[in-house]
Amino acid sequence: MKALYKSGAHPGFELVDRPEPETGTRDVKIKVAATGLCGTDLHIQAWDAWAAETIAAPLIAGHEFYGEVVETGADVHDVKIGDKVSGEGHVVCGMCRNCRAGRRHMCINTVSVGVQRDGAFAEFVVIPESNVWVHHDPSITPELGAIFDPLGNAVHTALSYGLVGEDVLITGAGPIGLMAVAVARHAGARKIAITDISEPRLAMAASMGADLAVNVATTRLQEAQQQLGMREGFDVGMEMSGHPTALPEMIDNMNHGGRIAMLGLPSESIDINWGKVVTHMLTLKGIYGREMYETWYAMSAMLSSNPVLRQAVASVVTDVLPATDWEQAFTTARAGTGGKIVLDWSVFS
Ligand SMILES: NC(=O)c1ccc[n+]([C@@H]2O[C@H](COP(=O)([O-])OP(=O)(O)OC[C@H]3O[C@@H](n4cnc5c(N)ncnc54)[C@H](O)[C@@H]3O)[C@@H](O)[C@H]2O)c1
Ligand SMILES: [Zn+2]
Ligand SMILES: [Zn+2]
Repeated sequence: MKALYKSGAHPGFELVDRPEPETGTRDVKIKVAATGLCGTDLHIQAWDAWAAETIAAPLIAGHEFYGEVVETGADVHDVKIGDKVSGEGHVVCGMCRNCRAGRRHMCINTVSVGVQRDGAFAEFVVIPESNVWVHHDPSITPELGAIFDPLGNAVHTALSYGLVGEDVLITGAGPIGLMAVAVARHAGARKIAITDISEPRLAMAASMGADLAVNVATTRLQEAQQQLGMREGFDVGMEMSGHPTALPEMIDNMNHGGRIAMLGLPSESIDINWGKVVTHMLTLKGIYGREMYETWYAMSAMLSSNPVLRQAVASVVTDVLPATDWEQAFTTARAGTGGKIVLDWSVFS
């Protein structure tokens, strides 16, 4: 099969022939139709310090995908050949304290598809049956199915606090921040403000349902609050940039008792006003991955019941390229001015 292969501990990928993955007794083999490109994949391509420390090369990367089941192991009973599926990329141990308590997203032995085991930048990928999410709604296109993983990050973050009637601040209008706007709207938020430093991305935020898109290179959030007619501060914050200046300014603009969910992975340590956290009784919570499988259930239920939300989420995919054009796709993703970039793997079938 064709695969985008990282042959060793060095920058780059090669589109080469690789043996098809073997299907274990509890595994499902999926013919990949579409894959999303994620910041993680850019790190793996560049082979930066994080990648060198984290990645087990040689490796086939790719963890955001949609495809069709073509083979099932002898002990697979629910997933069927022909099912249209996405995959949860965190393979958990099933035996640690959190796994056994049903908190699988907190497994201490998580192995990530496309990071520590072969992933979906290939014609075929194999994952355990328990990691397969079957789509029963025909309106889920390959492109939409390919972004269930990052949509799940947005949904996990957005639904971690009640949003009905709340004023919401989202920092970072990347694909995940943009999807979080649409989800927060669906979940009943009152005012939604989103920040970024990229004008094209801020422009996309308006069409996702944001009330205000703030360029923090030029405008302070205090002014944004005034423009929205707010008097006391944001009730819920979602940090989705990873940039070290975003969280301190968010903390300065929260109401007392405000709740903050942090998804963005900081590239460096962040200095915040802890005095304010204490005296304003703020809550800060880290978010990793998706809840298995409540987030997946919520995603499917929301997309199927709300065509406006489905359309908004689908619009986050701004570029679909054949997998043979992977280099151009990575260059476009690295520019960071559009939305989600998707590779089409049907070119090989
Ligand atoms: N915790 C998890 O499980 C998890 C999973 C996926 C991604 N992430 C992280 O979530 C974040 C969002 O992911 P993404 O794919 O949308 O990433 P992205 O890099 O495409 O988006 C981040 C956005 O933040 C913007 N930004 C930069 N400086 C800013 C500032 N000072 N204020 C506001 N915005 C600023 C960038 O211009 C960019 O548009 C990233 O940090 C990513 O690493 C975390
Ligand atoms: Zn990803
Ligand atoms: Zn575990």
